[in-house]
Amino acid sequence: MVSHSADHYLRLGVNIDHVATIRNARGGWHPDPVRAAILAADGGADGITAHLREDRRHISDIDIARLRQEVSLPLNFEMAATDEMLDIALTHKPNAACIVPEKREEVTTEGGLNVHGGQEHLKRYVHELKQSKIRVSLFIDADEKQLDAAAALGADIVELHTGAYCEAHEQRNADLRAKELARITHASSYGHGLGLEMHAGHGLTFDTVKDVAVLPELRELNIGHFLVGEAIFLGLVPAMQKMRVLMNQARAEAGEAA
Ligand code: PXP
Repeated sequence: MVSHSADHYLRLGVNIDHVATIRNARGGWHPDPVRAAILAADGGADGITAHLREDRRHISDIDIARLRQEVSLPLNFEMAATDEMLDIALTHKPNAACIVPEKREEVTTEGGLNVHGGQEHLKRYVHELKQSKIRVSLFIDADEKQLDAAAALGADIVELHTGAYCEAHEQRNADLRAKELARITHASSYGHGLGLEMHAGHGLTFDTVKDVAVLPELRELNIGHFLVGEAIFLGLVPAMQKMRVLMNQARAEAGEAA
């Protein structure tokens, strides 16, 4: 087991949205995302992420209430910057709130939040969440302008969108993969230099996690869809355990190389 006190420890946040997607395909209660969140501790997760979308396509309001009542792991509440979501966050007081862009018609969160162009709109949300002692995270593309804006707004954390990197990997486009990884690498050190706590996530798999997990400034990865999919083959806890091992190995190898 890796020491949690070491600066090198990289937290695993497990996103349970797609357990709810499967549940909602039939209605009813099975499979229960809260049960997945409870099991996540056995899989080596350090936190749970759940996105309450405006259209409630996966996670529901009751899930959020139950995650706070029944799960001891910290909750990272993903939310759009709307008054409805702000009220829900202030009611349940998650450990962190990650503000994401949200478009009704998208299949998943397609790009990062435009913090640079949206400061005026975002500032009240950041302020009210922080007033309530909820750590504020902004989900952004790996871009200096967005990082500068996030720091200026007083965000505690930024989560770098790894979707384009993972997509390039899936398309076997080595040049684009390297380019996207270089952007994430630069952004994680640039953001860290601004005093932001650096997280990353979206689309990560067993094949893509290591190159991101080695980045020394990162403190947390949030991973969901792949783990829930892989649970069909390996089981949920073994899938998380395998991800945890890969993250730990990447961290150890980076430490040895340093
Ligand atoms: N981080 C954020 C901010 C997200 O919106 C998502 C997807 O909901 C994830 C991480 C997890 O992405 P994935 O499900 O592709 O692993």
